[in-house]
Amino acid sequence: MTLKNTDERWGAISQLLHWLIVLLILILAVVGLVMVELPKSPRYFWVYDLHKSTGLAVIALVVVRLLWRWYAGAPRPVPGSPHWQERIANITHWLLYALMFAVPLSGWLFDSVSGLRPLRFFGLFKVPKLLPPSQSLQPVMRDSHEWLFWLLVALVAVHAAAAFYHHLFQHDATLRRMLPSRRRNVSSPSPASEIR
Ligand code: HEM
Ligand code: HEM
Repeated sequence: MTLKNTDERWGAISQLLHWLIVLLILILAVVGLVMVELPKSPRYFWVYDLHKSTGLAVIALVVVRLLWRWYAGAPRPVPGSPHWQERIANITHWLLYALMFAVPLSGWLFDSVSGLRPLRFFGLFKVPKLLPPSQSLQPVMRDSHEWLFWLLVALVAVHAAAAFYHHLFQHDATLRRMLPSRRRNVSSPSPASEIR
């Protein structure tokens, strides 16, 4: 498997970034939903700090991912996909990128306008506040963070369903080319020896 993307499949770096970000978003979602149910006590500040730092790490990883995509390109559409499907996939992917920024950014804005304790990235350094404290903006930012998150969940559900649909019903390489494989070209027909 190559590090860089080829015309047929995603390379190791793009795959690693895709699945690492999926894992982090899953952890952030679980931690986020649990932490808002906890009593508001300094005992649980560490849970908030962990959520915030991990969320900021996602912003950095998405920047790296986009830079890598720009440098390494993307595979060609899976052979045989109709044009309308390619267009919808493209729109969905760019909306997912937008939400991967918007969700953590809204969390960062909520933290900023709340004017609480300084935000430290995994305890290492102080992260700047994006806006001054504001009572009136607090509910707006909190609701934006929550609703953008649910929008991301809805889009991911459609995206994952499409990936499984391609795999199970179209029997094409869409899902396989985002997964590690020792085979060089997943879109070429299998040799007869592999079929038997
Ligand atoms: C991809 C990244 C992120 C995801 C998926 C995410 C997800 C969530 C979720 C699901 C909740 C619970 C919402 C609710 O039910 O009210 C939440 C709450 C929260 N998040 Fe995030 N978050 C992310 C990034 C961030 C970042 C970067 C910050 C701040 C720097 C942040 C700050 C907060 C805060 C302060 C709350 C508590 C809101 C409240 O008190 O109601 N989040 N997040
Ligand atoms: C937080 C969850 C997820 C996010 C934010 C996400 C985001 C993305 C984005 C932005 C792309 C487009 C890559 C590009 O063109 O640069 C992509 C591709 C892909 N994703 Fe996801 N994804 C998520 C979860 C999943 C899940 C759960 C699956 C499978 C079950 C999946 C399967 C795929 C596949 C197969 C591709 C490649 C599509 C192709 O080659 O045309 N993703 N994902």
